[in-house]
Amino acid sequence: MDHFSLRYGVMHAEDVPLPVIADAVGTPVYVYSRATLERHARVFREALVDVPDKLIAFAVKSNPNLAVLKVLGAQGMGADVVSVGEMRRALAAGITPEMIVFSGVGKTAAEMAAALDAGIGQFNIESEEEGVELAEIAAARGVTAQCTLRINPDVDAGTHDKISTGKADNKFGVPISEAGQIFGKLAGLPGVNLRGVAVHIGSQLADLAPLEAAFLKLGELVGVLRGAGHEVTHVDLGGGLGVPYRVGEVLPQPAEYGAMVARVTKDWGVKLIFEPGRVIAGNAGVLLTRVVRVKRGIKDPFVIVDAAMNDLARPALYGAYHHFEAVEPKGAQMTANIVGPICETGDTFAMGRECDALQAGDLAVFRTAGAYGATMASSYNSRGFVAEVLVDGDKFAVVADRIEAGAIMDAERVPEWLA
Ligand code: LLP
Repeated sequence: MDHFSLRYGVMHAEDVPLPVIADAVGTPVYVYSRATLERHARVFREALVDVPDKLIAFAVKSNPNLAVLKVLGAQGMGADVVSVGEMRRALAAGITPEMIVFSGVGKTAAEMAAALDAGIGQFNIESEEEGVELAEIAAARGVTAQCTLRINPDVDAGTHDKISTGKADNKFGVPISEAGQIFGKLAGLPGVNLRGVAVHIGSQLADLAPLEAAFLKLGELVGVLRGAGHEVTHVDLGGGLGVPYRVGEVLPQPAEYGAMVARVTKDWGVKLIFEPGRVIAGNAGVLLTRVVRVKRGIKDPFVIVDAAMNDLARPALYGAYHHFEAVEPKGAQMTANIVGPICETGDTFAMGRECDALQAGDLAVFRTAGAYGATMASSYNSRGFVAEVLVDGDKFAVVADRIEAGAIMDAERVPEWLA
């Protein structure tokens, strides 16, 4: 459930009519709902009531906005980060270092050092090579890095290839067949306390079965590791739960996920870490856009909006579906190609889409844009970076300024030898 709905014929975010935001901030603009973020955090937490010892670490990559992190931190969430940039955001939002988990296959030495200095709670080591390097850096600083080893369980998550991470040929984690041996090697190094294992098989999962298969494999591995004399106290189950993008789409609910996790892990005797992103932020945001013009097409008209693939990359990158609707629907429908102004055909949000009838100047939204939306923006076609707004009841605030194309140009230099 989210807090974007029609009231008296006008779409509101909580109690704020979207045209008010468009007038004040301009378009395109991402609009987030605080009540929705809080609701999703609560629902996810309540889904895990039967997991006694846990940390829910929001996947910052899905929405790194400081105000969003502040809202989620106040809900008791930690942070799953994949760069020092994300770590700094989590810290700046007041999330305590102990509640920060650092994932990612390419942590640089400088990043590992910075994370150690910040005193973060856990590193998810993605390779033997990384573990050895982290151990050296930590030992040289006289500290111990708390770690898990990320396992690649070779499970097909059944999601889009580009966001699948748990198949044997994906770059993530160590092969489960070699996990025991690598764990043994890293566990013996000074500088690291290898206290468990981690897994994340992919994103936008529409089925719990692959998750359960991965967790069962992990449970077996925990038994094997303990059998070999290792102490296993932490298991990180990653994120990945999908959300509905289409009207009427039914996906596994957090409660079903929580029940499955509780059942599968009940005898593990470990602290569980979760890294949800999309399920918290996805439906807590929309991308508000204005129709520039409607152009006649051979078959269907082109509704050209002022948002583009640089603002919301998911349709161009993954062929992703984002529900599109008018802010002030008049009741009539049209079939349209919904496109942005960027000069490539990839800048197409939908072809032949049945949607509210729209004309030049009308406002519309792309829904489910709160996760992997603004964070994946670029300045392609010298379009600047889109602004972000957070709504709270009847008030709203700009939580990320629009970065105009001119400001980006100002950071560029023509060397003297070209002048
Ligand atoms: N943990 C790790 C280690 C991850 O790599 C990810 C996402 C998550 C947690 C959070 O997954 P979630 O709960 O959000 O599914 N840009 C793509 C999604 C990429 C996901 C990358 N990793 C998209 O727009 O669909």
